[in-house]
Amino acid sequence: MDYKFSRFGQKLSRRGGIVALMDDLGQAMTTHPDMRMMGGGNPAAIPAVQEVWRRRMAELLSNGDEFDRVLVNYDGPAGNPRFLKAVADCIGREAGCTLRAENVAVTNGGQTAFFFLFNLLAGEFADGSRKKILLPLAPEYIGYAEQGIAGDLFVARPALVEETGPHEFKYRVDFDNLEIGDEIAALCVSRPTNPSGNVLTDGEVERLAVLAKAKGIPLIIDNAYGNPFPGAIYTDATPFWDDHVILTLSLSKLGLPGTRTGIVVGAEPVIEAISAANAVVGLANNNVGQAIAGPMLESGELIELCHGTIRPYYRERCERARGLAAEAFGDSTPYRIHVGEGAFFLWFWFPDLPVPSRELYRRLKERDVLVVPGEYFFYGLEEPWKHSEECIRVTFSQPEAVVREGIEIIADEVRRCYAGGG
Ligand SMILES: Cc1ncc(COP(=O)(O)O)c(C=O)c1O
Repeated sequence: MDYKFSRFGQKLSRRGGIVALMDDLGQAMTTHPDMRMMGGGNPAAIPAVQEVWRRRMAELLSNGDEFDRVLVNYDGPAGNPRFLKAVADCIGREAGCTLRAENVAVTNGGQTAFFFLFNLLAGEFADGSRKKILLPLAPEYIGYAEQGIAGDLFVARPALVEETGPHEFKYRVDFDNLEIGDEIAALCVSRPTNPSGNVLTDGEVERLAVLAKAKGIPLIIDNAYGNPFPGAIYTDATPFWDDHVILTLSLSKLGLPGTRTGIVVGAEPVIEAISAANAVVGLANNNVGQAIAGPMLESGELIELCHGTIRPYYRERCERARGLAAEAFGDSTPYRIHVGEGAFFLWFWFPDLPVPSRELYRRLKERDVLVVPGEYFFYGLEEPWKHSEECIRVTFSQPEAVVREGIEIIADEVRRCYAGGG
């Protein structure tokens, strides 16, 4: 049969970057185990953390009928009230503000939260106007790119690139070129930024918040890797809150992506809209992650786990991976890596790379190394930017041997690219 999809259907089924990435990731984790998976943002299997999740499952099973209740009952569309209160208290404590359970909603993963938020806030309006989401610092998370149901939803501003060392660089927000027109519905930043591992400074976040407030629009802060949990952040960064901020969190990078638990913290009208969207699209959310992590949020154990185990683990992995890259590339091959301030990635920049990074990705895949080509992270720019074809994202969350071999092969292939001129 010849299936004809609606405009929305065509948009949703387009094979964009995030679909390719998740296909690659799924295959590498199941049917193609020889592939060195350095592509997706899968969290690491940290034994001490996995032990905690196993213990929590055992507690659920042995605690009266708790496990049965978790499985047999739908939650309300905003999530489990006890979990919502625990999140409100935790974020309130960390960000120094007062939040209530009514300021929090759960979604089926952070990814779903963004689908709802972007399409609630931007797109076509009843008066015929169209609004967009402004990404103040490109490159930005690949997973947002395809989420608009009504055409292109994003405008992005290229980052300022600061060369901070012989093989290092850092992105900064280009505030001089950040005029915010009336067509902008919200600002959105991931902090730490996926893909680069950049962490916007407290000063940058405050400035963005002031700009958004002056325009009467929200500032969305995607905290998938950040503080207070999961805490994959290796520099000083204070959780930020204000009435016009929409903060998103997730249990995924704690090691629980299978539970699909995203969290939105925001003003009550936003939370009510997310809750309604949950009911329309999925009735209710997966409640297993909430049941596992909720009591740990209440007791403070979750934050201790983040500070005491998760953060040191990823910080160490980040430093090791950077050391491996320095060894593998040496001084003769041109390469730069973004400063490692957070998240799970080495973001490589190969200045004047003779082939586009999509081609480098293809060549690496032939050698059983999976990375993500940089082009996917630069959507919404008004002008082409050569830099976008010179970067790749490489995760360091997988086992050390995989990371070592992968980086050696990447260095070898990049050397060949420069030597061959194409
Ligand atoms: C920056 C960022 N935001 C949001 C997400 C969505 O994650 P999840 O849907 O697993 O919560 C991810 C996943 O990798 C991410 O990297």
